[in-house]
Amino acid sequence: MSSSEGWSVHSMPDVASGTTTVEGPLISRSVLERPSEGSAFIIFGASGDLTRRKLIPALYNLACANLLPHGFVVIGFAVTPKSEEQFRNEMREWVMNSPEANVFRQDIWESFAAQLHYITADFESAEGYQELARRLQELDEHDDCPDNRLFYCATPPSFFPVIVQNLGRHGLTTRTDGSRAWTRIIIEKPFGHDLQSAIKLNETIHEVFQEDQIYRIDHYLGKETVQNILAFRFANSIIEPIWNRRYVDHVQITAAETLGVEHRARYYEEAGCLRDMFQNHLLQLMALLAMDAPVRYDGRSVRDRKADVLRSIVPMNPENLAEVAVRGQYGPGTINGLSVPGYREEPGVSPTSNIETFAAMKLIVDNWRWADVPFYIRSGKRLPAKRTEIAIQFKRVPHLFFRETADQIEPNVLTIRVQPDEGISLKLGAKQPGPQMHIRQVKMEFSYGDAFGVNPETAYETLLLDAMQGDPTLFNRSDAVELAWEVLEPVLETWSATRPFHPFPNYAAGTWGPAAADALIARDGRAWKNQ
Ligand code: BG6
Repeated sequence: MSSSEGWSVHSMPDVASGTTTVEGPLISRSVLERPSEGSAFIIFGASGDLTRRKLIPALYNLACANLLPHGFVVIGFAVTPKSEEQFRNEMREWVMNSPEANVFRQDIWESFAAQLHYITADFESAEGYQELARRLQELDEHDDCPDNRLFYCATPPSFFPVIVQNLGRHGLTTRTDGSRAWTRIIIEKPFGHDLQSAIKLNETIHEVFQEDQIYRIDHYLGKETVQNILAFRFANSIIEPIWNRRYVDHVQITAAETLGVEHRARYYEEAGCLRDMFQNHLLQLMALLAMDAPVRYDGRSVRDRKADVLRSIVPMNPENLAEVAVRGQYGPGTINGLSVPGYREEPGVSPTSNIETFAAMKLIVDNWRWADVPFYIRSGKRLPAKRTEIAIQFKRVPHLFFRETADQIEPNVLTIRVQPDEGISLKLGAKQPGPQMHIRQVKMEFSYGDAFGVNPETAYETLLLDAMQGDPTLFNRSDAVELAWEVLEPVLETWSATRPFHPFPNYAAGTWGPAAADALIARDGRAWKNQ
């Protein structure tokens, strides 16, 4: 919305001057600090997609911003045979072509690449871990790299327990020399496949690592706009008093994607939308929106309050599940003028697959703040737009004395645009200029780009740096992961045991999901905000 249609919120000069733009366009936070201690960063699954698309570009961005610690090395560990030089050259190509990496600078790359190492090994073989131990010791002696170790499981989830057990078995997680060096492990999602497997995985990891050494990553938590939810709610005195059932009519969370399953059919055919998006990203967004104020901004307080929310979600009843949860799968359609195939025609997908590529749900948080305020949550692939958005709709005013235009007065809606076009807007009623009292909708607008002069960085820089600094606030604790599975358990069980009520595919690519999702919210007299 342009400022001629409403108000724009511009940051005051003194606000903006608090932000230092560090080298490169993607990292903007003045608060990011270079870790004081060096470390070895060991990536299991270094020949995979996550490493080349996210991890190495993020580390390169940190190098550009001079935020990597002194004495820092990366050791890639993967089964694909590669020489160190090959690994470096391949990573160079990815960084040069990554839309998420800073502009390529040869000088920065050269000193960064000198810190990249590679071990070809099977995740299950003892030799690989012995070699790793040997290399770590060698690097420690020669490269002035302190004994701190940050392991990253960027592998398919079935390898998580194998890697953890082997790290334990080969003494890579404990210190016998009395040194105070730290060892931490980052575990990618999906963390388990259901509640039982998540509990089991937690137990297996806890046999080797203590909870404060475990960093369960959810990249949504590292997004600036997601971190800003707490800032917006608790750094502004006017927000918190109205953030409850007295003023809020309902909340909508939408994570829409235009992309289909791409080349990830093997994973997605096992996972589906609930495990891929709801168990982690969407329930985390909901927890941040609904939580009470933490005592302080630290790993314990923030995560305690988030866990309270997940614990307060009313369990869905399998008997009338269709009223509160809807699943969908895309058929062929058109997105941005291009014809795209249906999910069942994608490479690697079973032609009779009943995996959901869309889900919508109504959840109730049963506590003093939110009792009877519905949270409507939906996510899907091959929808008309790539958009993650939160809409807080407030209650209507109690009495309308603008009789002639009363029916045009819409409730206030606060929209948090997580991505793209990151920002926040507030829909208000205002008197339209002229002799009569006509009310029109206008928007107050805050845009990250306008206010801070930069776009928010990708999430991985923040999260990697936090793990190096030992700050777990933006990572998931074991209880949150299990609680999130608990919320979804009735849906997962019912959906895996029954066929979809409307046979799949039940929405065309390029539309906003199945009709049943509209019906879910319409039953409560409400509608999804698609615009
Ligand atoms: C990942 C999911 O966790 O998140 C993907 O596995 C999904 O399927 C992605 O596309 C969405 O992330 P973002 O940051 O693009 O919203």
